[in-house]
Amino acid sequence: MALEGSQACCLLRLSLFLFLFLSAVSGSHPPSERLMSSASAIRAASNQTKKTAPDVAAEVGRYADVAKRIIERAVFGAAQNRSYRRLADFTDTVGNRVSGSQNLERAIRYMYDAMKQDGLEVHLEPVKIPHWVRGKESAEMVVPRAKTLAILGLGSSVATPPEGIEAEVLVVQSFEELKRRASEAAGRIVVFNQPFISYGETVSYRAFGASEAARVGAVATLIRSVTPFSINSPHTGWQTYRDGVKRIPTACITVEDAELLWRLARNKQKIVVRLVMGAQTLPDADSFNTVAEIRGWQRPEQVVLLSGHLDSWDVGQGAMDDGGGALISWEALSLIKDLGLRPRRTLRAVLWTAEEQGGVGAQQYFKLHKENISNFDLVMESDLGTFTPMALQFTGSDAARKVMEEVVNLLAPINTTKLEAGAEGTDISQWMQAGVPGASLHVADSRYFWFHHSEGDTMTVQDPHDMNLCSALWAVVAYVVADLQDMLPR
Ligand SMILES: *[C@@H]1O[C@H](CO)[C@@H](O)[C@H](O)[C@H]1NC(C)=O
Ligand SMILES: *[C@@H]1O[C@H](CO)[C@@H](O)[C@H](O)[C@H]1NC(C)=O
Ligand SMILES: *[C@@H]1O[C@H](CO)[C@@H](O)[C@H](O)[C@H]1NC(C)=O
Ligand SMILES: *[C@@H]1O[C@H](CO)[C@@H](O)[C@H](O)[C@H]1NC(C)=O
Repeated sequence: MALEGSQACCLLRLSLFLFLFLSAVSGSHPPSERLMSSASAIRAASNQTKKTAPDVAAEVGRYADVAKRIIERAVFGAAQNRSYRRLADFTDTVGNRVSGSQNLERAIRYMYDAMKQDGLEVHLEPVKIPHWVRGKESAEMVVPRAKTLAILGLGSSVATPPEGIEAEVLVVQSFEELKRRASEAAGRIVVFNQPFISYGETVSYRAFGASEAARVGAVATLIRSVTPFSINSPHTGWQTYRDGVKRIPTACITVEDAELLWRLARNKQKIVVRLVMGAQTLPDADSFNTVAEIRGWQRPEQVVLLSGHLDSWDVGQGAMDDGGGALISWEALSLIKDLGLRPRRTLRAVLWTAEEQGGVGAQQYFKLHKENISNFDLVMESDLGTFTPMALQFTGSDAARKVMEEVVNLLAPINTTKLEAGAEGTDISQWMQAGVPGASLHVADSRYFWFHHSEGDTMTVQDPHDMNLCSALWAVVAYVVADLQDMLPR
């Protein structure tokens, strides 16, 4: 059952009340407020001309102490391992949470309650999301010998007839080979055994393999999982049917089985596979983006947005993709709140819904909030793992980059002072295309695609110390940018 808007609204009012009440009794003044008089002196001095590099360095440099306090608390202090413990509790309790599922509703309710209990202002923003269900599925090779093939159907795939599809197999290694051998494809199950080059390049086989094969008459497709490493693990993901092309069932098989089928085919063996898939696309479901805030004391309408997505695939625990990104975004707000800090601008953690179906929650959010685009200072997303942080990736003007170069210098205590070009994130891309500065987390991700979209995406791949470092980085960057006198130049 979906959370009702009115229910959410009352809960919001209560949490707002508690937040204001707690802020009032704690009686601490935010450091940024205490810094004010010297800050306005700087502003007056630098008002006539554009801020020079030494001005920026001096202003950002004044945050070295506060950055150290955030890092200290996250990595060594009272908040050590907290984001990891929260992630474990969340993913162990709720499990995976695919778009449209009851688990995703439970996940949203869980995070809403948990962040509210943490003393943040929390609210939900409604979104209609796709509802695809996998159903029962299986595949086996029946000729030249009987062998079960591990599969995962791809998001949005149609089903086979109930009795399945049994057909001879054509194995190709590329779209180009498929084109050359188009005359052999009619009535066949096309198997793609494309080599893994990079996720970005290779994912087009998962995304468009079915339609490309259907164009030349194939009856189904089995696609080598998009991963550089496998222990017979199939990896799922979204796929897109091209308009005007017949929709045929499509699933990923393991690297091992794709190579096996290819070797048999190369040796001119006849191969027959039987595929059964019970996938269904149901009417769109009600869901929410989950939003938690620390409101800015001076310019509350101006926003630094931190984010990860709350939905996952329907396998594993969705701990890495993207539980980690969601949890460090919450953790960053917790750290700042714990230290009694409150920046000039609003810090807003957004836990997106239905990212895996093509950033559905984020698109809705952009549509609704773009009227205030001039108030979005920086949009951040972590969706490539929360392993050891290596650098901050940034998209923005040269002038903004100069500011961010100073900001990452504050991360010297955790050795992550590198600023790289090109922020990434499905959910922040529209903002960046529209000119809002964006940031994402570059982590030691060499193993990321080993687990991605598979049963292997569990808490076991997460490390508490790495999550501490990611949380510290996320919190320092968000806090400092939200508290600087000026928004980042566009
Ligand atoms: C800075 O300049 C703006 C106009 O560009 C003016 O409105 C503002 O009062 C000035 N602020 C200070 C502190 O001099
Ligand atoms: C945090 O995790 C590390 C690694 O598992 C462990 O050594 C350490 O004792 C933990 N600290 C706390 C406070 O739980
Ligand atoms: C845009 O900003 C204004 C002023 O802060 C606010 O009243 C309004 O609700 C915002 N619009 C959205 C869609 O958030
Ligand atoms: C940063 O690097 C220094 C020197 O290599 C090392 O001593 C220190 O432990 C590192 N700090 C962290 C938080 O990894």
